[in-house]
Amino acid sequence: MTQILDGKATSLAIEAELTEAVNARLERGLKRPHLAAVLVGENPASRAYVGHKVKACARVGFESTLVEKPETISQEELLQVVRDLNANADIDGFIVQLPLPDHIDDQVVLEAVHPAKDVDGFHPVNAGKMALDLPCFLPATPMGIMSLLHRAGIDTQGKHAVILGRSSIVGTPMALLLRRNGAPGNCTVTVCHSRTKDLAEHTRRADILVAAIGRAHFVTADMVKEGAVVIDVGINRIPDASRKSGARLTGDVDYEAVAPKCSWITPVPGGVGPMTIASLMQNTLQACTNAEA
Ligand code: GUN
Repeated sequence: MTQILDGKATSLAIEAELTEAVNARLERGLKRPHLAAVLVGENPASRAYVGHKVKACARVGFESTLVEKPETISQEELLQVVRDLNANADIDGFIVQLPLPDHIDDQVVLEAVHPAKDVDGFHPVNAGKMALDLPCFLPATPMGIMSLLHRAGIDTQGKHAVILGRSSIVGTPMALLLRRNGAPGNCTVTVCHSRTKDLAEHTRRADILVAAIGRAHFVTADMVKEGAVVIDVGINRIPDASRKSGARLTGDVDYEAVAPKCSWITPVPGGVGPMTIASLMQNTLQACTNAEA
């Protein structure tokens, strides 16, 4: 029997915990956590993601600040925005939404974010601490997937996890977290990427399969073992004449064909997406409490 890994419901449970934590803070005379998001240019997907983050802040009682800059901003001007946020004592954490325009070097900007305010976990200091299993901010998508596995009570100990994609914001941190000595964790991890030979040979051996490649319906039923746990990180826009907008969002997994083989599977939408947002909110509360310690 296939069970749905309901990211929407799980994210609402996390939001309820965060709301309670904010109320407890206010009763003790402490400030509301405050997240800022920097949005450069007009990329509609980025605008939508940042909008979700700002709305989530309102739901859990955080302050939020949206800093919008035109596509034409120079790298130096953007670095100044980052320095101002680093110096602003009321801002507990902030994110710079990616991708940035081509004339800006993402890495230079991410390295300018103070690690204590880096709630995306993208600064090399946080990435390095994650690799060493030290306390740090974890990137929100893999963190959300770990929470989803944990809260569903899925046993990962000794399992073979196969990750499709080696990006620094999903595939690579996902591999580190599933490999950790912890619960969830203790997986034997295989990371597949665009140069992997005989990809399906790897995916068919997966007890836990994480798809993060950004290609609609890439994972087909023949690539999945009976009883696997399938986590779909993809958010792909595909044409759909039955929709008013003419398009719909779909994952990296051919859900209709793959789901019947799975013990657990995440839907798209309503799986990993809401968990990513909830994890960012958890990191923001953590940044706020760290600042008081
Ligand atoms: N672009 C895609 N995913 C993310 C994310 O988690 N954070 C930021 N800042 N940009 C992204």
